[in-house]
Amino acid sequence: MSHLKGLLDLKDLKQEKILNLFQLAKSLKQEKSVSLQGRGSAILLFLEPSTRTRVSFEVACQREGYHSIVIQGKAATSLEKEESLEDTFLNLGAMDPAVLIVRAGDDYNLTEFSTEFKIPVINAGWGMQGHPTQALLDAFTLFEKWGTVAGKKLFMVGDIGHSRVAQSHFELARILGYEIRIFAHESLLPKNLKVASFKKAEDGLEWCDAVMALRTQKERHGAQLSMEGFNAEWGLHSKNIKALKKTAFIMHPGPVNWGLELSPEIKSDSRSIILEQVECGVYLRQALLRMCREGIW
Ligand code: CP
Repeated sequence: MSHLKGLLDLKDLKQEKILNLFQLAKSLKQEKSVSLQGRGSAILLFLEPSTRTRVSFEVACQREGYHSIVIQGKAATSLEKEESLEDTFLNLGAMDPAVLIVRAGDDYNLTEFSTEFKIPVINAGWGMQGHPTQALLDAFTLFEKWGTVAGKKLFMVGDIGHSRVAQSHFELARILGYEIRIFAHESLLPKNLKVASFKKAEDGLEWCDAVMALRTQKERHGAQLSMEGFNAEWGLHSKNIKALKKTAFIMHPGPVNWGLELSPEIKSDSRSIILEQVECGVYLRQALLRMCREGIW
């Protein structure tokens, strides 16, 4: 019985076959061939763990006609063999994808590598620096509720200091005109505090139009951080959430550490829009991909 051959090694290949292969590759290159029914490839390079962002981008890519190629974890790449991220970028770029979507840690400089890159590079969560599509999708979710976010009040609770989501919201709030105030254990406040901070969660809950809890990012804390006195009282729970307006919303970018920044009773609170954030995220990312493609981003 004959079977379709793959490629394990080169030793038994005939020269003619290799030259035929080269000829076909040459004609595909001349055609600038993309997937038959699609708009080319999207490479998703995820060097840190992710559920929402990765799958959300995959769904968005699928809807936009891209074939997504996912690289999950450094261990699956030649970064493990000490190749630099710059070389990784250059090599992935040489394969002519339509877009490169990257999640990486603070040890990489995405700005430096992306500057000279000819295809769109999208930050899908970069260390503690920023997570722009998360902030955009959060704002889009609220925009869907209110028709505008300008003049609205967003209260952030939890590990603000280590949160890339918070960093991106500080940038976005300046552009879109919403106000942010925060509440956190002193170890979890940002170093250069640029927004007002409440001493009591209840005060912020009374003040805001939406509250967003952020995950306690233990993996970014380092050995020196003193979390003395930190407990679930620093998060949102059945007692303090009573101070939140009936018309306000409860948000979290995920993943949630239930029992830490949010107590489990919040799951059934009708003001929670946590899963709506996830739903809106796909549309926001789809729109971003389309605008990048059309050169209008
Ligand atoms: N919100 C967010 O970035 O979640 P993931 O880490 O699961 O992608």
